[in-house]
Amino acid sequence: METRDYYKRTLRDLRISVTDRCNFRCRYCMPEEIFGREYPFLARDHLLSVDETVRLAGIFAGLGVQKMRITGGEPILRKELPEIIAGIAGIKEVKDIALTTNGSLLAGQAGKLREAGLMRVAVSLDALDDEIFMRMNGGKSRVKKVLEGIDAAAEAGLKVKVNMVVQKGVNEHALLPMVRYFREKGHILRMIEYMDVGNTNGWDWKQVISKKEMLERIGAEFPLEPVEPNYPGEVASRFRFLDGKGEIGIISSVSDAFCSTCTRGRLSADGMLYTCLFATKGHDLRTLLRSDASDEEIALQITDIWEQRHDRYSLEREAAREERSGQAKVEMSRIGG
Ligand code: GTP
Ligand code: 5AD
Ligand code: SF4
Ligand code: SF4
Repeated sequence: METRDYYKRTLRDLRISVTDRCNFRCRYCMPEEIFGREYPFLARDHLLSVDETVRLAGIFAGLGVQKMRITGGEPILRKELPEIIAGIAGIKEVKDIALTTNGSLLAGQAGKLREAGLMRVAVSLDALDDEIFMRMNGGKSRVKKVLEGIDAAAEAGLKVKVNMVVQKGVNEHALLPMVRYFREKGHILRMIEYMDVGNTNGWDWKQVISKKEMLERIGAEFPLEPVEPNYPGEVASRFRFLDGKGEIGIISSVSDAFCSTCTRGRLSADGMLYTCLFATKGHDLRTLLRSDASDEEIALQITDIWEQRHDRYSLEREAAREERSGQAKVEMSRIGG
């Protein structure tokens, strides 16, 4: 029996964060002045172990999850990442395993991750120009490192997509150079509307460039046409270049929400289940895992949480922002987007 939430959405995808640490300090996600030395990152013994992570993934797979995505923070910082991937790849129901990474450490790891069973990577990159990129990532990495990571991933046989957050007045001029570059490289570039995730980025509507505006800017140089989604509820809307040379995607959580088809659960590295990217609280599965609960009991608990889910933050943004004022939302670095 498929598990359905209040709005009849199934549980199809699981995003598993394996660490809340990151070697970048992107201003829109982990600004340095807040995520400094004193920041209370998760303690080692609070992280799910490899075995706990794989066990839980298996329980989710039993509930109908076929698609797993590993995230962070920066997941490559987790030493046991290849073991985690190999364990998940060994679950028979799992059809797709992807990784979301900032790419800076990918060049040295791509081959090993591919061997462990990883199929795809989504690499975040916001500009091709070091000055803009470093201003955005807190001065932590040059563009070249990320481009090398992308090349290494493609060489290792991983399918590559590139994610770019577009922020008005910050990197909007990087939009067309990014489109040109990745079109030539043959990788799908997806532009993400700047979102009000977490509590620290000082988001407001004025910093958003909408899907419509991005399409106008890109379409002026490269005529585009919409393409049907690859799967029901695909996060990015797809557009192909009319000259046949590939496609781009736009993730429009702000101007054109896609909550009605959201089938994603999110697990933090300490084993809390979040049913929305903008949730103010998670559900503790770690305590259950560390008790003598059986797989069946844990599965029942997850089903119960999912059945009570009624999140649709992006559809209700204004009211939801109001309702949550004074309550902290989960940080992006805890649940990896
Ligand atoms: P595919 O399987 O390739 O379609 O991957 P994906 O687009 O689901 O995964 P990816 O990690 O590349 O997602 C890109 C970005 O989209 C994330 O980093 C988030 O910023 C955003 N995103 C993904 N899922 C959601 C969601 O459920 N809600 C919102 N608001 N944003 C999301
Ligand atoms: N708005 C949109 N996207 C964001 N990401 C991180 N913070 C934000 C935000 N405020 C993106 C990252 C990465 C993915 C995990 O989420 O750049 O591509
Ligand atoms: Fe940047 Fe991703 Fe790290 Fe956040 S988790 S600081 S978006 S690289
Ligand atoms: Fe899903 Fe929440 Fe994103 Fe809507 S805002 S698509 S419910 S994660």
